[in-house]
Amino acid sequence: MYTRSEPVTTPVHFTFEGRPMQAQAGETVAAALLAGNVGAVRSTPVSGAARAPYCMMGACFECLVTIDGRPNRQACMTEIREGMAVTRQKGAA
Ligand code: FES
Repeated sequence: MYTRSEPVTTPVHFTFEGRPMQAQAGETVAAALLAGNVGAVRSTPVSGAARAPYCMMGACFECLVTIDGRPNRQACMTEIREGMAVTRQKGAA
């Protein structure tokens, strides 16, 4: 469970799995999802194990999500934008 250390001052609106969410302008999709306590953001291709952002610097690929219909987006390397539709990635896309 995560909480923001600072309140959102410049909100950006997006959806995760169709659920309306709010982020701080300038933060990454991964930071926004962690702050939103969404839990797992993807499942592995072989076992289906749940995964969530880990390294936050583009190295581990645990944060892969689908953004606006495009799979395999690294949430930790993608800045959140107004109106983004983010969904969990299930297995290999
Ligand atoms: S959290 Fe490791 S690559 Fe995104």
